[in-house]
Amino acid sequence: MANSIESTLVETRVFQPPQNFVEQANVAGQASYQALLEAADRDPDAFWAKQAREHLHWTKPFTKVLDESRAPFFEWFGDGELNVSANCLDANLKNGNASKVAIIFESDDGVVKKITYQQLHDRVCQLANGLKALGYKKGERSIIYMPMSIEAVVAMQACARLGITHSVVFGGFSAKSLHERITDVGASLVLTADEQMRGGKAIALKPAVDEALAMGGCEAVRHCIVYKRTGGKIAWDAKRDVWFHDVADKQATTCEPVAVGAEHPLFILYTSGSTGKPKGVQHSSGGYLLWAKLTMQWVFDAKANDIFWCTADVGWVTGHTYIAYGPLAAGLTQIVFEGVPTYPNAGRFWKTIQDQKVSIFYTAPTAIRSLIKTSDADAAVHPKSFDLSSLRLLGSVGEPINPEAWMWYHTNVGGGRCPIVDTWWQTETGGHMITPMPGATPLKPGSCTTRLPGITAAIVDEVGGDVAAGQGGFLVIKRPWPSMIRGIWGDPERYVKSYFPPELGGYYLAGDGAQCDKDGCFWIMGRIDDVLNVSGHRLGTMEVESALVAHEMVAEAAVVGRPDATTGEAIVAFVVLKRTRPEGDEALALGKQLRDWVAKEIGPIAKPKEIRFGDNLPKTRSGKIMRRLLRVVAAGEAITQDISTLENPAILDQLSKPV
Ligand code: WTA
Repeated sequence: MANSIESTLVETRVFQPPQNFVEQANVAGQASYQALLEAADRDPDAFWAKQAREHLHWTKPFTKVLDESRAPFFEWFGDGELNVSANCLDANLKNGNASKVAIIFESDDGVVKKITYQQLHDRVCQLANGLKALGYKKGERSIIYMPMSIEAVVAMQACARLGITHSVVFGGFSAKSLHERITDVGASLVLTADEQMRGGKAIALKPAVDEALAMGGCEAVRHCIVYKRTGGKIAWDAKRDVWFHDVADKQATTCEPVAVGAEHPLFILYTSGSTGKPKGVQHSSGGYLLWAKLTMQWVFDAKANDIFWCTADVGWVTGHTYIAYGPLAAGLTQIVFEGVPTYPNAGRFWKTIQDQKVSIFYTAPTAIRSLIKTSDADAAVHPKSFDLSSLRLLGSVGEPINPEAWMWYHTNVGGGRCPIVDTWWQTETGGHMITPMPGATPLKPGSCTTRLPGITAAIVDEVGGDVAAGQGGFLVIKRPWPSMIRGIWGDPERYVKSYFPPELGGYYLAGDGAQCDKDGCFWIMGRIDDVLNVSGHRLGTMEVESALVAHEMVAEAAVVGRPDATTGEAIVAFVVLKRTRPEGDEALALGKQLRDWVAKEIGPIAKPKEIRFGDNLPKTRSGKIMRRLLRVVAAGEAITQDISTLENPAILDQLSKPV
């Protein structure tokens, strides 16, 4: 985060939207953007109603727009009915897109498979019919623990077609994390695969499901549907397990979409907060899909002949909104990519863009930063060694992009001609919130620029008062918006407490610190809570600490983030063992053991980069761990803070030294 704070002080470059881009843009020029912004601010209900009528197909039209009577539990288009899958698939068959390619799937080893809108529709219907035959219906919840594949999108869409609320769990999460989500969401169905392929290696998935289901509390799960990805050997429970192809293949290729209320939960996606277990962020059907589709058109400037590629995994919100739903609702052809950016070499992204003639490319700063390093070292994998002339727009998401990485992306990938949309948003917001509109907004490297029409983003102080330009504060959204979080599954109190603290008078608290410059551009400064952002993945320090103290050797643990040139932040854990403090080789060996333990408890993304052992942790006299000091120590900086309240100042010296 340090990068973006510095950049607010030094960054002065401005890039105007290129004239040829403006001429063809869906939102062309500042005046068009301003007109939308003003229309939305003047009469929000009329603005949103118009968008929802224009962009979605309703089986029962809504008469109400925003219902605030149970604030902060807001409802949008509450008496309307629709089906999300019908809006993504059937709508395209009616629009003349039946034989258009919907998905270009590129496997880890480079095999390409294409599927048209008609074929995707048919496959979704087959799986939905199969689910019906197994007795599944509207109102149930499914867990989807699948690799990046056409089948994962089919699974999500088939659930949506029947009104089954899905909860996708990223394939990198452990059996224990999976178990937590299966039980919390009360799933009756699990969809998975035998294995997934990443960087040339097969990684098991089904065994984690078996392990999770054996942990107890999952009795509601009636079936585990297994997509055969590799044919690898797996255990089989004939009473519960059934092959994806056996469920779907023989079914009819039409399936009446089940109309659901606009507020029906389309999905629940778990994400980290500062305290406790991950929260199940609940999203709606109508408002969510509206924003997914609208931001495709506004922010990605979607056109019929675009080839869109979002490199996220469907296990994260980006893969929900900008793979499983948005691009399909917008009728685009998109890439679904199974692999990793570094396999078979670090030119993989550029080769795929070249081969598939990708026109819109959306990825995370971490990927860009790591590819800068590799392409500086090897010209053969440098973007300049590929024909990237098909690109017309680039995007960034998940963490602040430092100006240096922005400039490299702009110059080397975008050839200096492609605008970059640096999109700020969150699992909770459902879609983009603060971002350039590429045909209208002047770009500043490192800033996510301005708010989208209808999104009342602002920076406020601790009592909700607006702060002046150039001053840091809390990023809030003042008015509700259609794709906003509807609640935390099973925990309404935590929803209110986390996002609508009373002192802010009803504003949505994003959890990020930010500032606005004199042009109204937002600069994100990082989280204000104990949430880490490692390679664009959100993790709570508490989660990692709980995993550490669950190890029999560990007495106490405190976890902080340290700025990292590639991953944005890196996890540093300070650990007190129940035995004496290890040193030298023993400390290294125990550190490795604990890092592997965390990977097993939560998933490899949570593995601390470094573990330091202490006789104790820095605490106040009342026993509170002083994390801000640990952050300074982890970053290797000198302590300038007041440490007079510290019970044991000598401990800082001990913890300052890496093992
Ligand atoms: C951070 C990912 C700066 C931010 C879509 C936010 C960003 C958290 C940006 C949400 C950006 C996301 N610039 N920071 N363009 N985009 N963030 O829920 O801290 O995985 O609160 O959603 O990522 O992460 P989440």
